[in-house]
Amino acid sequence: MRSVIYHQYGEPSVVLHLTEVPELPAPAEGEVLIRVRSRPVHPGDLIGIRGRYRAPGNNAPVGPDGARPGFEGVGVIEAVGAGIDPARGLTPGARVAFFPARWAWSDRVLAPARFVTPIPDDVPDAVAAQLHVAPLTAALLLRAAQEAGAQRGDVIALSAAGGLVARVTARLLLDAGYQPLGVVRSEQAAAALSQQTPQMEFLSTEQADWARKIFPLTKGRPVKVVLDAVGGKVASTLAALLADGGALISYGDLSATPLELPALSFSTRGISIRGVSVGRWPALPDAVRAADLAMAISLAQSAPDIFRVAAEYGLAAVGEAVQHAERAGKDGAVLLTELR
Ligand SMILES: NC(=O)c1ccc[n+]([C@@H]2O[C@H](COP(=O)([O-])OP(=O)(O)OC[C@H]3O[C@@H](n4cnc5c(N)ncnc54)[C@H](OP(=O)(O)O)[C@@H]3O)[C@@H](O)[C@H]2O)c1
Repeated sequence: MRSVIYHQYGEPSVVLHLTEVPELPAPAEGEVLIRVRSRPVHPGDLIGIRGRYRAPGNNAPVGPDGARPGFEGVGVIEAVGAGIDPARGLTPGARVAFFPARWAWSDRVLAPARFVTPIPDDVPDAVAAQLHVAPLTAALLLRAAQEAGAQRGDVIALSAAGGLVARVTARLLLDAGYQPLGVVRSEQAAAALSQQTPQMEFLSTEQADWARKIFPLTKGRPVKVVLDAVGGKVASTLAALLADGGALISYGDLSATPLELPALSFSTRGISIRGVSVGRWPALPDAVRAADLAMAISLAQSAPDIFRVAAEYGLAAVGEAVQHAERAGKDGAVLLTELR
């Protein structure tokens, strides 16, 4: 089968190659073999390919067999291992989405059955391919905001508000009665998002005095929580605007720049900083995971436009796909799809 693989960390468009690799073995007990039809290129995939998940000071190279990106996608079951409850609907031919399963940017994956979800017919592949990472991160962010003390009606600021995770999160926040406020990096994105989601306010950091425009937009109400995917100056500025006792919840590092906050933020003002990672979602109790997935499927059915697609590429065009995924102003997901 074919698999996207890299043998050294670096620029994804340079180090990734589509390679013939041995077929996967038959699924073991509790596993499912899936022919993958589509998978998204996530910012997190690119962080991994650049080696930025390694702890500071760890310069270990990629292992001798290379590394293969991708953890989520949609496809069709080809074979099923022993010991899987027939009531799960995981039979050969079933269309399923999966997360987490290693090597998703390959023709096939082996996935643990507990991380494989049958997909209703009214959810197209392009949406099902995105059904896990972003919605589950959004569910984690909503819970983190609630644990940080956010109450219905509170203002919650979201940076990188045009991104998929932020779009899903904003929808969950609106449905739960919070007042989300979107921060983006261009006036163009702010205008487009304001049209798409008129229930919330957006502003852009393109304006020199953007931070001073927040309180007029919230009608003077304090920002209780910041959900941040950018880090650096944007997150530091938003954190400085938090109400006393407020929280910055980090889930991304798009600026690749550290935060800078006055130390008194913590001692005197009681600001807290925490983070969420979808990498911890698989360890959650079954009932929580099932509820999160039900939310994701319901959102896919009721608001498919949230999961809009900027472009689809075949696996052989992975270099172009990863470049497109980081293009400023891209509107929607970049998918690696089995093109027909
Ligand atoms: N913690 C977790 O478990 C987890 C899970 C999923 C994703 N994430 C992280 O969440 C972030 C967003 O992911 P996504 O899938 O929503 O991304 P996405 O759909 O690809 O969107 C990325 C968004 O970020 C904006 N952006 C890119 N670079 C920026 C920068 N330097 N400053 C400000 N805005 C910038 C883009 O704005 P333009 O429209 O202006 O180009 C775009 O709206 C990423 O950092 C990703 O790694 C974390």
